[in-house]
Amino acid sequence: LAAPAAPTGPRGADTTAITGIARLVTNDPVLGEGPLGLIQDAAVVIEGDRIAWVGPSSAAPATDNRVDAQGRAVIPGFVDSHSHLVFAGDRTEEFNARMSGRPYSAGGIRTTVTATRAASRNVLHAGVGRYVAEARRQGTTTIEIKSGYGLTVDHEARSLEIAAAHTDETTYLGAHIVAPEFADRPDAYVELVTGPMLDACAPHARWIDVFCEQGAFDGDQARTILAAGAARGLIPRVHANQLSHGPGVQLAVELGAASADHCTHLTEKDIEALAGGSTVATLLPGAEFSTRAVYPDARRLLDAGVTVALSPDCNPGSSFTSSMPFCIAVAVRDMRMTPDEAVWAATAGGALALRRTDVGRITPGARADLVLLDAPSHVHLAYRPGVPLVAAVWQGGSLET
Ligand code: NIG
Ligand code: FE
Repeated sequence: LAAPAAPTGPRGADTTAITGIARLVTNDPVLGEGPLGLIQDAAVVIEGDRIAWVGPSSAAPATDNRVDAQGRAVIPGFVDSHSHLVFAGDRTEEFNARMSGRPYSAGGIRTTVTATRAASRNVLHAGVGRYVAEARRQGTTTIEIKSGYGLTVDHEARSLEIAAAHTDETTYLGAHIVAPEFADRPDAYVELVTGPMLDACAPHARWIDVFCEQGAFDGDQARTILAAGAARGLIPRVHANQLSHGPGVQLAVELGAASADHCTHLTEKDIEALAGGSTVATLLPGAEFSTRAVYPDARRLLDAGVTVALSPDCNPGSSFTSSMPFCIAVAVRDMRMTPDEAVWAATAGGALALRRTDVGRITPGARADLVLLDAPSHVHLAYRPGVPLVAAVWQGGSLET
């Protein structure tokens, strides 16, 4: 365990100690036990927007404020590395039809593109704010947001401007599907995505993403699009192997993408590639849940040594949930993850998928993003599915819920 030491944050900032934590997940194996860096009877000191100290509750230093966790658990705020929150309308009818037996296809994206184009900036902005707050109430303190429902130069740039008002983790997904106007000229659409649309979007984005799938973009198109983005400083991530087996995962690894998302249909070769590279496999169980599809096999990936992240993939089509606790429960129940692995994937795994070292862990110097659970252990997130266990959320040191 960490030796008690004085808070190390910037002088003069307000300090708060959270004491009486039955089990603290730090995700720092140096601070505590196992990969979760678990500490029992712990305390955390927040100074300003940072974690200043972590150690045994009995050794907590004097602070300006004190919160008694009363024997409950504290975990790092969830890091959601994959969302599509800039949209208008919903797809209730499509969901109803699916639940009556119709299969999911990428074609439904067009419905949301039409509604999003027609919506005002204010309506889209308010919608993102609502879903970001909804995710935060469920413990998410870092969230990536993609464009992808505009599919014109102006509508994609507008989507990214709106996303950027809510997060630093913005992703240009002009290559979600071929825009309807280009249905019979997909190559011309790829030229738009890699030309004028990229020019307009690059200033507002950190990442570039492609939906590499039958009915969206093939491997060659995806490679062209990701390379064009990379040349402009955008880091690749890929919607890969979601609805069928395809080249997405191999391409993601080859290009050094930060993550390959979905990873539902994988061969041994895909798993070997992921295990041999630095690309995180981001699993999105909400999509399989809401499309009644077969879940990705997380166990196969974990046993091969692949780094796994979890995300709700919040979008109005394939997965209209912002809930990381829900994903943890499903990942444990149906994807052969242990509760420890799922909680790690939802926090430290998401941080790796976003190449962040300041979030996803509770360690001195990290951003003070913490979740107090109404439970004695993080395991309850899977053990008590559907129960609202998030009692309080600190984001950058400020208490949100
Ligand atoms: O991650 N796969 C592509 N994009 C979304 C679905 C978008 C939609 O159906 O509107 C996804 O599942
Ligand atoms: Fe997605």
